Amino acid sequence: MFSRRFDPALKASLFAAALLAPALARAGDVAAGKIVFQQNCVLCHGNAGKGDGQAAAALNPKPKDFTDPKAMGKISQETRLKAVTEGGASVGASPVMPAFGQMLSAKQIEDVLAYVGTLMKH
Ligand code: HEC
Repeated sequence: MFSRRFDPALKASLFAAALLAPALARAGDVAAGKIVFQQNCVLCHGNAGKGDGQAAAALNPKPKDFTDPKAMGKISQETRLKAVTEGGASVGASPVMPAFGQMLSAKQIEDVLAYVGTLMKH
């Protein structure tokens, strides 16, 4: 019968889709975003996004720990997008957080936020 013969294949593809779905939901290109992050964000946010970049010691408040689900859970994707595009002050965070809307393309911002999303410990 059709169903018995194709069931295993169907199950396998459903399984693959379930694995892929979270990656697709993130939309941006994580690998490209990592490069954007290393070039524009590590100075303050640190290599691993822990908020301990070279410049962070002098900052108050310091950038949040991107690997901390408690800190990051409070910051929605919309807020992250606005913060990176229009600067920290636009979301009530530190004005030291620069506005990248003129320096990075919308795609680069999408990518870097996808990368930031992968830093969080689950
Ligand atoms: C000059 C230092 C500096 C640079 C460079 C920088 N940030 Fe920030 N960033 C900050 C500070 C300071 C904060 C705010 C901390 C606070 O107010 O709690 C912040 C906050 C954020 C937030 C969260 C907004 C919030 O509500 O706290 C995101 C997301 C973010 N930065 C992403 C990035 C990305 C992505 C880049 C690179 C494209 C970047 N930052 C570059 C210093 C910096």
